[in-house]
Amino acid sequence: MWEKLIHFVKNQPSKVLGIDIGTGAIKIACISSIQGHPKITQVHVCDLPSDSFQNDHFMDIDFLADLLRRELETAGISAKHAVTAVSGRMIFTRQVSFPVMKQEELQEAVRWDIEKYVPYPPESYYYDFAVLSERPEKTELEVFLVAAPQTMVDGISDILRKAGLTTLAIDIEPLAIYRTMESGENSLLVDIGAEVSHITVFQNGRPILARTIPVSGRRFTEDVMRSLKVTAREAENIKKGSFTNVQPQVSQLVIGLVSEIHRTVEYFQVQKKQISLEKLFLSGGGSRLSNLKEQLEKELDMPVLLHDPFKAIEVDNSFDLQYIRSIAPQMAVAVGLAMRGGEL
Ligand SMILES: Nc1ncnc2c1ncn2[C@@H]1O[C@H](COP(=O)(O)OP(=O)(O)OP(=O)(O)O)[C@@H](O)[C@H]1O
Ligand SMILES: [Mg+2]
Repeated sequence: MWEKLIHFVKNQPSKVLGIDIGTGAIKIACISSIQGHPKITQVHVCDLPSDSFQNDHFMDIDFLADLLRRELETAGISAKHAVTAVSGRMIFTRQVSFPVMKQEELQEAVRWDIEKYVPYPPESYYYDFAVLSERPEKTELEVFLVAAPQTMVDGISDILRKAGLTTLAIDIEPLAIYRTMESGENSLLVDIGAEVSHITVFQNGRPILARTIPVSGRRFTEDVMRSLKVTAREAENIKKGSFTNVQPQVSQLVIGLVSEIHRTVEYFQVQKKQISLEKLFLSGGGSRLSNLKEQLEKELDMPVLLHDPFKAIEVDNSFDLQYIRSIAPQMAVAVGLAMRGGEL
């Protein structure tokens, strides 16, 4: 895991914020380098009003910038350098094969081919790529393509700038989570957010497939509202409370998740028959739902674990461990972003 922090150790600044602006909550993690030794020194979660986003776009950049600035102030976070991410559902990812060639040639080849793959209008997006691995027969490179709409990326930079922060990098969620995962595992991770969930398949610890699925914390709240005839606020409190109050709704959620997980595993295994996925990790605020992990484990034929990004990096010993444990799965993206450190 330490090699994933190498850039942090090598480069200034000595404090870096990971800021995950989701549709339901802003999550902030601060890593400080104390005598060359990085550790988590601050964490903060703040729920967002439900109308902060519309059609996947920030409704009001000034409002969000102001809120972020105030939350940083309230939490006593003074670090100014931040790494943030474009939301998982706004990015396009795809694994494609190219003939083996040099990096510069590949850059040109991707530039020529990118429009074939990316579903956004030409010139309206930023893109990047990474070579995952050469196929054993050495005639092809497996390349992971990523594209994100410029409006989204520019909107995020504006929020950070207006909140008084310097953006070190804008990353993508699967890569941020990757930094917090154990190396070398073949696993699945389901991130249950406020608006949508993402399933990412990791092969040897690297993200190779990402899907967005229509399961979310907000839909779950709406189910609770409908079936228990309560207001949104009451439903939100009920779901964050005891399992017994929401048992039927959790069972429905589990049915939906299991079917999406099976579809993903089947799709993956059509392509990579020889690899078996060993375990499933849960992250995102929705995974804090009580008993969800246990219910999923009953239905799936694999171990299910709540992902703990704080295993990837030392946590300052001033934290209340129970609190840290309770927010851990929701903090995965923010911690992974901060771990990227000063690398530009
Ligand atoms: N203790 C809890 N029990 C159940 N649900 C919870 C709990 N805490 C937070 N949530 C839910 O988690 C969701 C927020 O999770 P998260 O912060 O991962 O979403 P997000 O990143 O803002 O959303 P998205 O990724 O979809 O944009 C909300 O729907 C919230 O109600
Ligand atoms: Mg999220």
